[in-house]
Amino acid sequence: MVVDQVFSGEVGLAHWASNTRETAIQGMLRASSSPGVISFALGLPAPELFPAVQYSHAMNSILLSDCHSLQYGPPPEKLKAHIAQLMKTRGVECKAEEVFLTAGAQQGMSLLARLLLDPGSSVLVEDLTYPGFYQAVESLEPRVLTIQTSPVSGIQVDEIERLLKQGTKPALIYAMPNGHNPITVTMDLATRQRLAELAQEFRVPIIEDDAYGFLYYDHHPLPTLKQLAPEWVCYVGSFSKIMAPALRIGWVVAPRAIAGKLPIVKEATDINTGTLAQRAAAVYLDQGHFPGHLTNLRQQYRARRDFMLESITRHFPAGTQCEKPLSGIFLWVRLPWKIDTRELLRRSLREANVAFLPGEAFCHGKVLHNSGCMRLNYSNCSIEKIEDGIRRLGSILRSFGRCSDTVTN
Ligand SMILES: Cc1ncc(COP(=O)(O)O)c(C=O)c1O
Repeated sequence: MVVDQVFSGEVGLAHWASNTRETAIQGMLRASSSPGVISFALGLPAPELFPAVQYSHAMNSILLSDCHSLQYGPPPEKLKAHIAQLMKTRGVECKAEEVFLTAGAQQGMSLLARLLLDPGSSVLVEDLTYPGFYQAVESLEPRVLTIQTSPVSGIQVDEIERLLKQGTKPALIYAMPNGHNPITVTMDLATRQRLAELAQEFRVPIIEDDAYGFLYYDHHPLPTLKQLAPEWVCYVGSFSKIMAPALRIGWVVAPRAIAGKLPIVKEATDINTGTLAQRAAAVYLDQGHFPGHLTNLRQQYRARRDFMLESITRHFPAGTQCEKPLSGIFLWVRLPWKIDTRELLRRSLREANVAFLPGEAFCHGKVLHNSGCMRLNYSNCSIEKIEDGIRRLGSILRSFGRCSDTVTN
């Protein structure tokens, strides 16, 4: 009885926690794991491409050769050295000791948010963005200022410049220059340069989320923001999409003043990251298979992207728009009708067993009404499943388009 009263929901929750809700992504994780569902909803890599055999050899060799492998311990220097090498391929010169290991990119962003935000601080974010960023900052209750994103060049730097010149002083800017989630745009060079200049001129730190930075398909990768403004950019990387998300290994390369505080906030959060997975990843990287693995991932994902695009042209209504992404694992589809894609999703799950995420899942605060937008993931399904799922979705779309009252054309 007493316990019921205490947990009745009336008592004790912090202000931010009483307003917090499950994201569409969490709900979708359950819905799309039901048997028979073809899911284009989540940002899952292809499970059959995980380097499971090589990783299991690496894990075995560690467990069997070192009795400290299951002990609390410092983050492995060897893995940091490998990441410093990988950062070179992203144009960033850093030493192993400047690499800070985290439990995925998500933890990197949470830790950085805690270090950068004071009560009442504001953050500059794109109006359609990765919902995990809001989750990383929401307990700090910042003022969120939104900026539009061009599907061609990326974040609208002119809008940022205008705000900064008007005297807005955000505590941070959150940016995703490569394989933007959900818009899929890869920020062009001029936008990167301008954003880096603004960060330096107005002394605003940027969190550069590069979760998809190694998954580029048709171009030589453009410079990272970290390369362009090293003193103002906190680079956040991850092995989730390029090795395996269950390992929970990410990293941050931050300017010195921030880097010095990261171990302190991380210790308060989880004492010690899973060093076993980190050490096994270091041994796997020692074996030299990773560059070949990355090349294979890019080839496979490029083929799936091209196939999904082509399948959309065959099965979706005329007038559907979708840019070809240069990097990442998603397509951003704009239907020719102004319909509520949340309603479309309900029908699609019910009648076709196909899942996707509606555009509405990616905006914060203001609601997108009848956007006619959806995000489709192409990395997780085989070519056959892509064809089957897009065909089924196309037939739901045609009947939805005919019946829906909300269609305005
Ligand atoms: C843009 C973006 N950033 C960060 C993450 C979180 O990645 P991690 O698994 O490394 O925490 C994701 C996951 O989907 C993502 O899409």
